[in-house]
Amino acid sequence: MDMKEAIRNRRSIGKIKQDPVDKSLIEEILEAGIWAPNHCYTEPWRFWVMTGEGRGLLGRGYAEVAAAEADPTLSEEELSKLKSAQEKKAFRAPVIIAVAVTPSVKPVVPEIEEYAAAHAAVQNMLLTAHALGLGTIWRTGAPTYHPKMREAFSLVGKEELVGFIYIGYPDMEPPKAARVPFAQKTVWVSE
Ligand SMILES: Cc1cc2nc3c(=O)[nH]c(=O)nc-3n(C[C@H](O)[C@H](O)[C@H](O)COP(=O)(O)O)c2cc1C
Repeated sequence: MDMKEAIRNRRSIGKIKQDPVDKSLIEEILEAGIWAPNHCYTEPWRFWVMTGEGRGLLGRGYAEVAAAEADPTLSEEELSKLKSAQEKKAFRAPVIIAVAVTPSVKPVVPEIEEYAAAHAAVQNMLLTAHALGLGTIWRTGAPTYHPKMREAFSLVGKEELVGFIYIGYPDMEPPKAARVPFAQKTVWVSE
């Protein structure tokens, strides 16, 4: 697929079929991720590919966050219902790649730039998946940054999750999208 077309036509696909995705395609997506620009070659990223029951890793994270934030007066049954509803969220796609930023200890690279690199890796991955005919959605939300989610993924130090990429074959038409024209966001400076 032409790069311009991939950039212009990629859309977040919230509804994804459970059909399996070939490991070779997932590897292509990961390979695209690691070629993102990064300052001083810190390569500040880590990936978890979750498939099948492996998605329970994220599911348990969602459940533990919900339990930690739940109304303490909930009955055991209510809490268990809440946790299992949250856990199911991790099963909305056959493949989920969690992406974390791993800020380097080199003081020459400000942390904000490590995040920039990790985010660029995610975009490379979304575009590659799209070019491979796969649908994706980059999901975050408050649970992503919760201490219980950090614990689920055994993050250490300054590591943070930057998103969960849900991947699979689309089960919906790409949604209509619009952007504010770049002219409204741009100043041309020539002298
Ligand atoms: C950092 C980040 C986090 C996002 N988190 C979510 C999310 O939690 N849930 C969701 O439905 N979409 C999420 N999105 C996707 C955006 O909603 C989506 O990109 C936006 O609506 C534009 O649509 P498009 O991706 O089809 O162009 C996220 C996007 C980014 C960049």
